Amino acid sequence: MNRREFLGYSALGALVLSTAGTMGFALSRQHPHSALPAVLTALPEGGRPLQPLPRIVNLSDAVGHFQSALTPAPHTVPLSDELEARLWLYNGKVLPLIEVREGDELDVTLFNELSHETTVHWHGVPVPKAQDGAPWDSVAPGESRRYRFTLPENSAGLHWFHPHPHHGTARQIAHGLAGALLVRPAQDVLPMEVDEHLLVVSDLRLNVDGTVAPHTDEDWMNGREGELLLVNGQREPRLDVAPGTTLRLRIVNACAGRYLRLRLDEHELALIGTDGGLIERPQPLEELLLTPGERADLLVRVSESAEGRFMLASHPYERGWMGARPPHLDEIAPLLFIHTLNAGVYPAVSLPDALAHIQPLGEPAVRRQVELTEVMPDHDDHGPGHSDPHAAHGGGSHHGTHGPGHAADQAMDEPAAPPEVDFLINGRAFAMDEVLFEGQADEVEEWEVFNNSHMDHPFHVHGTHFQVISTRDADGEWREAPWLAWKDTVNMAPYQRLRLRMVFREPGDWLFHCHIIEHEELGMMATIRVS
Ligand code: C2O
Ligand code: CU
Repeated sequence: MNRREFLGYSALGALVLSTAGTMGFALSRQHPHSALPAVLTALPEGGRPLQPLPRIVNLSDAVGHFQSALTPAPHTVPLSDELEARLWLYNGKVLPLIEVREGDELDVTLFNELSHETTVHWHGVPVPKAQDGAPWDSVAPGESRRYRFTLPENSAGLHWFHPHPHHGTARQIAHGLAGALLVRPAQDVLPMEVDEHLLVVSDLRLNVDGTVAPHTDEDWMNGREGELLLVNGQREPRLDVAPGTTLRLRIVNACAGRYLRLRLDEHELALIGTDGGLIERPQPLEELLLTPGERADLLVRVSESAEGRFMLASHPYERGWMGARPPHLDEIAPLLFIHTLNAGVYPAVSLPDALAHIQPLGEPAVRRQVELTEVMPDHDDHGPGHSDPHAAHGGGSHHGTHGPGHAADQAMDEPAAPPEVDFLINGRAFAMDEVLFEGQADEVEEWEVFNNSHMDHPFHVHGTHFQVISTRDADGEWREAPWLAWKDTVNMAPYQRLRLRMVFREPGDWLFHCHIIEHEELGMMATIRVS
């Protein structure tokens, strides 16, 4: 399908979505038995108490040892009285939690009960190369693999795990495969009175019969946004707290493509930690952009007023959508409702002067350039106009007249063939046997990453964390980062440049890629070989 057909096709898709989207639910246009009323009566209910993440139970009773099995397999999950989602889950649990402590040994055996190869990638945890669950180490259906590693010092933080096979990651994440990995610090610096909640945000797009809708071309181009937005697998749950409570909200954006621009009505947020754990001092924020793959650790002192109701929601964010813009992008998407009880007011908690110490990485031994681009192949031979960023960035103004293309006659549970667009790093699409960079363990690397495209891309590095040293917006000046943080995923706005510093401690091949899963799968990924 060429560009023009693609745009026409998207406009058609947006029409269908806008009907379903008004009820906050998604209806796949490709389902042969689509019937809107059947879906609407089956909407899962919001407003139920927030449930904690289901746990993967530790089968070992030895201190400092976490042992379990992770079995990805198809499961049905009731969403309402009339609707069951047919998902792929680890151990039958929606977004399960593994909780360990710094210094613990994690020993998890994957039993692959899917009919596709898979891996478990431990996103945000520095592990030896063989334990990284990268595509080179895929586990075939019916096979198993043991992951074993020790959680090193300074690995405390909220991380997560998800499949990472070569081709198939997007589909497996769309079916629900992901979980949280919480690494507790050896010593906690936050006061006991803080009320901690882990929130894993994910989204789903289901057919009327509860099966996961296949990827559309729009999903591949933009990153999939399932319109059913969930927190810990629940729709718009509520959390009841005493007025004045200090909440610690630790959030994972486990969506494939959805950006979360988080705001809590009438409250300021204080960021206390990022992907790689606590930062030195709380940073007050009115809102926080959390891109796919990122985590945030937030403190909020809830209003002292009794019987209040405050919405934590994701607000519209323009991330350079290609093709017709689905209406849900311009709506406020509620995530969680915080209710204050009619009860006594909790006093504010006091925090230590420094939550952590983050050592700046210092002068680099190597500097590298990384460039992210998108390339639209031009089948019409009409010259370079098709790769012009503004042409691709229609924001709803394109209304092609071509038919819906090949996707309409696709089998409902088969993935769509990705459209012919390339997402590249340094001009190359990912190949399993290609190494882009060669580096040395324990050397400080400085990467200047340039998003030479009209879309936002969250840039993720395996095997280590990095510090963002400085940023340069399109047409701007270089600006130093105002404070240090350990990150493994960072957003890049269109034409923005970032300087990142990092050290790889472990030899091996490490991936870096866009964490919009579909972009990664279409090629925006590369390898550094560390020796
Ligand atoms: Cu969370 Cu390579 O990914
Ligand atoms: Cu991307």
